[in-house]
Amino acid sequence: MKSVSTFAVSAMLALTLFAGNCEAKPASAASPIPQLVQKNGKFALMVDSSPFLILGGQANNSSNYPAALDKVWPAIKDMNANTLVMPVAWEQVEPVEGHFDFSFVDTLVKQAREHNVRLGILWFGTWKNTGPNYTPSWVKTDNKRFPRLTNKDGSTSYALSPLYDTTREADKKAYVELVRHIKAIDGRQHTVIILQVENEVGVYGAARDYSPKADALMNQAVPDALVRKMGKQPGSWHQVFGDDADEFFHAWSIARYVDDIAAAGKAVYPLPTYMNDALKDPLNPKSVPGSYASGGPTYNVLDIYKVAAPHIDILAPDTYTPTSDSVEATLKLYARPDNALYVAESGNRAVYARYVFSALGRQAIGVDPFGFDYTGYSNYPLGEKTWGPDQVKPFGTVYSLFRPLERVWPKLSFEGQVWGVSEPDDHSGQDLDLGPNWSARVTYRQWQFGMPEWDPQNKNGYPDGSDVPSGGVAVAKLSDNEFLVAGINARISFGAGPANKDKGMLLDRVEEGHYDKAGNWVFERVWNGDQTDYGLNLTNTPRLLKVRLSTYTK
Ligand code: DGJ
Repeated sequence: MKSVSTFAVSAMLALTLFAGNCEAKPASAASPIPQLVQKNGKFALMVDSSPFLILGGQANNSSNYPAALDKVWPAIKDMNANTLVMPVAWEQVEPVEGHFDFSFVDTLVKQAREHNVRLGILWFGTWKNTGPNYTPSWVKTDNKRFPRLTNKDGSTSYALSPLYDTTREADKKAYVELVRHIKAIDGRQHTVIILQVENEVGVYGAARDYSPKADALMNQAVPDALVRKMGKQPGSWHQVFGDDADEFFHAWSIARYVDDIAAAGKAVYPLPTYMNDALKDPLNPKSVPGSYASGGPTYNVLDIYKVAAPHIDILAPDTYTPTSDSVEATLKLYARPDNALYVAESGNRAVYARYVFSALGRQAIGVDPFGFDYTGYSNYPLGEKTWGPDQVKPFGTVYSLFRPLERVWPKLSFEGQVWGVSEPDDHSGQDLDLGPNWSARVTYRQWQFGMPEWDPQNKNGYPDGSDVPSGGVAVAKLSDNEFLVAGINARISFGAGPANKDKGMLLDRVEEGHYDKAGNWVFERVWNGDQTDYGLNLTNTPRLLKVRLSTYTK
């Protein structure tokens, strides 16, 4: 077969190119392939056999060429990211049908190793922001072989229909070649740790494909597994789902399509997979499909995706509405016992940086803000107006806290208990329920000394820059009375929990320190006196504290 022989040549070339770059490990020393594991409704992304936290930075859309990479790495470094997330486009790897070119992937993997970061690869195929722009010319210009869907008024949509084997098989073939290539060059070293299959699937301006082919499928019975999952009675799509039928049918059709592609990839090399979603507004459930990307894994169809796409490990939100109520609502909807939270994208305005803390509090396996390179592009008004090291800094500050914890935190999160909060837009405080013995209150815009009630008219004002919310705290339980605290621009005050309500709470010992590369705590100093009398005050200098609590009899 043409594609196989093309593959054989490209794999051999790749292996030759990579021979000099592989770690000098005997074959038996290769670690297991990265894997998403689940235990008691909690998830961990296992990389080289232990949980790994993705502190990602996603490059701009057109940075997926060797010439751009020099502008990407410095931003990833400034960000303190441990993972670069980079598109690989169908048009780029199969410009001529059956002829594959993975030279960019080779360069990318080689350079990622040199920069000591992992990679997430985004497959831009049939859908990229719902459109077919990243399909090769021979696909996007041939609507006979690769049909677009039909709008309700009979006009032709910009988006490709998920109902055609021709399109799916062609996409699948290219994706599988990509996965095969990754296995060939990275099957032992695992620089590539996760794959996104397609990018923001769905369609705007329609709820589904309204072609005669689609209408006929709509009249067939809804698959049994879906009927059971949704607790419905059998029937056609309209009979079972009423007003939701159009959207649910489209979601099912896309999910099955992408699942087929993901399954074929996993059969070759089973890296963890995810799909990202252009969100339905979590605060406006009445919004109409088509005004958002209908058929994508929006929160209202996650159950459909879970039945239809078992080879997609994670359904992941792209958070681009900066308000705290919207982000928090979205994180809550996507962190489910059957779905690990992974923030596949977020805006790159400074205000998004603090949401890392909320995501981690919901046991996220990673976060991946968008637009992190120095190619000279800024996606304002979605993101920052201008773009450079100053704009990367807020994310770099937050990541500098967690990068040394990239193994420690996800282990604590997977095996124990964690909490995390971000500063709300109104700067209000939050209470953490740390179990029966302890509680904590997180407040913002505080000075490092004294209590706000000492200055009821706020004559002292607020710390500089604190009008823009930027604070966040993450807490992990280390033992019954001991907590790890990581935070910035916040005050955390521990208190007694219900079981200790008649006792006095005391800070037995507060240590500032860090974790070394082997994951051992390295003590730096004890906080006491002014540093603890008015809560533990975290400034824009990231701090890591180990807090031991105790009680005294009143
Ligand atoms: C979400 C998409 O997934 C990204 O590729 C990018 O287009 C952003 N939107 C906007 O910059």
